[in-house]
Formats: sequence, structure tokens, C-alpha cells
Amino acid sequence: MNDWQKSNWRSKPRIQMPDYTDQAALNAVEAQLSNYPPLVFAGEARKLKSQLAAASRGEAFLLQGGDCAESFEQFSANGIRDTFKVMLQMAMVLTYGAKVPVVKVGRMAGQFAKPRSAPTETVDGVELPSYRGDIINELDFTPEARIPDPKKMLQAYTQAAATLNLLRAFSTGGYADVHQVHKWTLGFTEGENAAKYRDMANRISDTLDFMRAAGVDSDMAHTLQTVDFYTSHESLLLEYEEALTREDSTSGNWLAGSGHMIWIGDRTRQPDGAHVEFARGVLNPIGLKCGPTTTAEDLKVLMAKLNPENEAGRLTLIARFGAGQVGDHLPRLIKAVEEEGANVLWTCDAMHGNTIKSATGYKTRPFQSVLQEVQEFFQIHRAEGTVPGGVHFEMTGQDVTECTGGVRAVTEEDLSARYHTACDPRLNASQSLELAFLVAEELSALRQDKVAKAS
Ligand code: PEP
Ligand code: CO
Repeated sequence: MNDWQKSNWRSKPRIQMPDYTDQAALNAVEAQLSNYPPLVFAGEARKLKSQLAAASRGEAFLLQGGDCAESFEQFSANGIRDTFKVMLQMAMVLTYGAKVPVVKVGRMAGQFAKPRSAPTETVDGVELPSYRGDIINELDFTPEARIPDPKKMLQAYTQAAATLNLLRAFSTGGYADVHQVHKWTLGFTEGENAAKYRDMANRISDTLDFMRAAGVDSDMAHTLQTVDFYTSHESLLLEYEEALTREDSTSGNWLAGSGHMIWIGDRTRQPDGAHVEFARGVLNPIGLKCGPTTTAEDLKVLMAKLNPENEAGRLTLIARFGAGQVGDHLPRLIKAVEEEGANVLWTCDAMHGNTIKSATGYKTRPFQSVLQEVQEFFQIHRAEGTVPGGVHFEMTGQDVTECTGGVRAVTEEDLSARYHTACDPRLNASQSLELAFLVAEELSALRQDKVAKAS
């Protein structure tokens, strides 16, 4: 990648990024961030890449999840803890279904910048610039709040560093012990209406009891007490990304130091645009959102640009078509991948194609549509003989009311009770875990299919 420099994106068409008015303030922030330590290290990004490579072969499974947009105002230790906790619960249930390791990647510690469908927003006849995430401007509907302020990048960096610090502590400090995690899950299945998940939970209990009896317990098995937990976000605000990019001294390659994995959104994946130019030069695992408007030709160009050496684990294609639409799009993109002989990991973002407006005026997503999209994703990969390698959710460990449905049946009337998201609606803790049980059933069926075919 000799021709690549971390600032080359500046000469490419840029969209979905703010026009800062105070150039001197912007320069000062970039200079400051360039001197700060990176948040992640190259060895970690490489380790994640090898785990994603395993997922692309069906030897692991990716669980990626977290907020649509992290918020400055809602930043708290409990918030981080609860999302981490429910992701571990989900991972354990998925591991049981898939019988392979689950790679855990949070939309956390850097998921601050948002692409928007319109540059402005009009409320009661007043038109203001759109909110673009806390790293850029503020959600309040006032002219001052919507002015992009480069100093917000420093606050985002600080929050990301503190979040990652806590995640690292939780991952190794005893909080992630399998027995503890499973105890929380049993709590969920004891609830009314969750009885249908009790059977799988009991089978996990049996497995843990058996392991303990056989002498494999947390006291001696380090792996039962600790987890690898990675961070990811959309690489949208390129001034921030460039300022945190560092040369890896062992390989001479460049690392996006803002998070372990970065992805390119559905709105900024133009093959000749700034976002693709930035991502192609860093060594991190890269995600690429694929939506209904992704053409086979563009995908081929993007795969060649983003993964010229066809390295396994480098490129994750995040399919987000919407329930009922996966069959119209996924097969043609799988065909493009196969024609190129490209190594990719296929995962399913079952959120962004399923956003609707409730009768009560809230942006929401029905649990059933999210589930249906995942099921269609599995069905098509099964038919094509390719690997459904992961899932991607907008979710939180908090008991919010943003998506409808699930065993605790959030209704459209309930949405106003605890609707806290700064951007898109998230699954709450109960909905997230329930979905994990249902995805585990898909994984289990897939595995049995494979075993039957092999015998
Ligand atoms: C997102 O992941 O929050 C997002 C904006 O997704 P997409 O680019 O797929 O619309
Ligand atoms: Co979103």
C-alpha cells in the first residue's frame, strides 16, 4: 500500500461530514488528537482479524452490537456494564447453538458520528441542520446546538478511552465468568412467557455442571473467566480517524487507532469517495454495509480496493436489506463474491432495513421483522452453500422501549415510556437475549444440517 497516506481522503469527494466554520479550532483539535495515545493496538486488530477469518469459514460466529449512537449525556458505567453483560449472555447462548467460539465486537467506544438521510430537519416550520452525532453537534433543536464544534472530538476521545478502559477491566477482572453470565440468563428464562427458552438454558446449565464435575472450572481454566471483547464504529468523521491513525512499528503498516474494527456505512461507500479511500489503507478489519442499492459491480470494485490481497478476516460484508427483501438482493451479491473468489465474512445487520414510524410518531423496529431478516439471511446462505457468519444489532442493556415486540411485548403505546436513543431504536436487554436464543436455534439447525450431509 505504498501509494496510501492517511490524509489522501482529503482530495476525494466527501459526503456526510460537517463543514466546520472555525478552521483554526479544527486544526488545533486535530493536532492535539494526533499526539494522544491510540485507543487500540495493531496486535489486537490482527487478532480480531484472524478470529473474523475463522468466522468466514464457519469456525467462529460474529456478534456485533451496541448503540446506534453513543451519547455524551447518557454516558455511565452502568450503561456500559449492562450492554457488555447482555452481549456476554447472548454470546454464550449463541456459542451453545453454534458450537463454535463467538467473537464479540461492541458498537462502543467510538460510535459517535451519524450519517443522516437529510442535511436539515424541519420542526413546526423551523428548519435546522440535522443532528450528526455527539462528536459533531448536539441533539437539541436550536440553531446553536446544531453548529458543528471540533472540540467535541476531544470529548468523544475521552469518553471512548474511559469506555474501553472499563470494558478491558470487565473482560479480565472476573465479571465475565461463564457461571455468572449463565446465572443472569437463567433469571431471564424464569420470567413469564420466556418458558420456551428454559429448555436450552437448562441444557447449558447441564453442560456447565458436567464441566465442573470433570474438573474444568473457572478457578483453573482462565478461559472461563475472561473474554476477548473488541470495539467498532462507523468510520465517518475522517478528521478524527486520521488524527488517531498510527504507524505500526512492527509491520510499517497503518492502524486506525480509534477502534479495533471500523466500518463504511451504506451512505458513504462510493468506490471513489473519501471514506473508501481512508479505510483501504489501514490494517484493521473493515466492515462494509451492503444495502438494496449496492450493485454487484460496485461490490466487486470495493472488494478489490478494500482487500486487494484477498486476506481472510479483512473484509466483513454487513447485509442490511430489510425483512422480505433479503431474497431480492443477497443472492446476487453472494454471486458477485463467488465470481471474484473473494474472501469475505457475511453478517446480517437486521436493524437498518427494518425501521418504521409507529402510529404514535416514534421511529421503531418490530422484533418480528428483525428476527425475520436474520432467518432469511440464514435460509439463503443455506441454499447457496455459503456461510452466515454473524449478526449485527443495535441494542442496549438498558430496559428501554424503542423496538416493539418480544416476550415482554413492548407495544406502540409503550414506546414513549423509555425512549432514550439519540438516533435509531435499539433492542432492549430482554429483546436482545431473546433474539440470541432464536438465532441459536438457526445455528443449531445449520450445524445439524452439516452433520447430516457429512455422514
Ligand atoms: C448504522 O449502522 O448506524 C447505520 C447508519 O447503518 P447504515 O449505514 O447501514 O444505514
Ligand atoms: Co443506526
